[in-house]
Amino acid sequence: MRNRLALAAIALWVLTLAAAAIVFIRGNTVPSPDGRTTVLVQPGEREFVLDEMRSLLVAVRDIEDGIIRDDKAKVAAAARTVGMAAAHDAAPALMAKLPLDFKGLALPLHRGFDELAAAAEHGEPAPALTARLTGQLDRCVACHAAYRLGVSQ
Ligand code: HEC
Repeated sequence: MRNRLALAAIALWVLTLAAAAIVFIRGNTVPSPDGRTTVLVQPGEREFVLDEMRSLLVAVRDIEDGIIRDDKAKVAAAARTVGMAAAHDAAPALMAKLPLDFKGLALPLHRGFDELAAAAEHGEPAPALTARLTGQLDRCVACHAAYRLGVSQ
């Protein structure tokens, strides 16, 4: 009897761990009719993510402007606004809803902007900086092709 209870407890524990692992990998998602995956978040969290997205677009615009004007300081400053320091603002509740793959696209994006800032500070020539920016835009494109946001109440 005690053995059975112990086995049942272990089975329950394994099931709980497996469920936690699935939530960790899949996040809070449902399939989208357009073939993408919808990440379900609260209205305020959606505003937070979209606000961050618009900051990314502004940064990309300013980086491009800095490259064209050969203003490396402007390139570095714009890239830093969306570097890893900015990524740490997200609340744990939101992070838990994002699928692992989503975070796998977002974190290298922020790291890439820090690398772009460092490269600009070291005087990397415009074509190399532009190539870095294109690589960053590939990450925007990849994530937008795969995910959209939905609101859960
Ligand atoms: C890890 C995923 C991910 C990455 C990387 C990403 N985005 Fe987004 N972005 C999203 C999602 C999800 C939405 C919401 C799209 C939807 O619901 O249809 C979005 C929306 C946007 C919007 C619309 C904002 C609004 O107010 O409606 C802009 C602009 C945007 N992204 C810019 C960018 C730029 C620029 C980059 C790259 C520098 C980027 N994003 C990288 C996931 C990402």
